[in-house]
Parts: sequence; C-alpha cells; structure tokens
Amino acid sequence: MKWSEEYVTGIKRIDDHHKALFEMSEVFRDALSERRGERVYGLFLKSLRAYACAHIGFEEGCMERCQCPAAQQNTQAHTKFLQGLSLFEERYTMVGFERAGAYRVVDFVDQWLADHICRIDTQLKPYAQGL
Ligand SMILES: [Fe+2]
Ligand SMILES: [Fe+2]
Repeated sequence: MKWSEEYVTGIKRIDDHHKALFEMSEVFRDALSERRGERVYGLFLKSLRAYACAHIGFEEGCMERCQCPAAQQNTQAHTKFLQGLSLFEERYTMVGFERAGAYRVVDFVDQWLADHICRIDTQLKPYAQGL
C-alpha cells in the first residue's frame, strides 16, 4: 500500500513518517513475494517496532501541543497497535518464520495504517498550524 494525499495531517514530519511506514511494509511484502522474507523477517519486525515507537512518540507530542481533541483516542489506538505487533513478535520468537504469518503482519500494518491515519491522525490538520 502507498501513502496518498488523503493521509495529509498538516505536519510534514508526520506525513514523512507515515510514508516511511508504508514503504517498510511494501519493501517487506516484496521480499516475501520474492522468497527473501525469511531472511529479513526478524529485522523487519525489529525496525518496524523501533520506527513505529519513534513516530508514535513524536505524533502524540504534536497532538498534545496542538490540543487536538483526538489526542486521547490516538494514544489508545497506538497502544492497541503495539499490542497487536507484540503478538506477531511473540509468535516469531516461539516458532520462527512462517510465511502466512508474515503476510498477516504486512496486511495488519497496511490496514491499520490506512484506517488509523484517515480516522484519527488526519484530525490534526485543523490544529496543526504553527507547529
Ligand atoms: Fe496516530
Ligand atoms: Fe501516525
């Protein structure tokens, strides 16, 4: 999945983070379809968590500073996302690489991002002036 104009939040750095997250998932999906997935799966999970955490910290700070009414909802959704990611990480630790499971991660990430950005992150837009 790719970033599109409907995901604009009014803060360029947040949009860049979102683009990078979509890109990470796309690059890993390509690796999966080219049968290189197993080699990079652990690294993908690790970098996804690191990048998502950095993004989340920054975005939550912006929402707070702008007094965006979606701030609390945003924080709750982020916690849920990281919990969802933990399930995949735990499974990987327990049983190693599974192709179907790896596809489920990229589907989960793509769907979550598209839905979350549209519903919640874009609520920042009217409050983002001056940040
Ligand atoms: Fe968010
Ligand atoms: Fe976000």
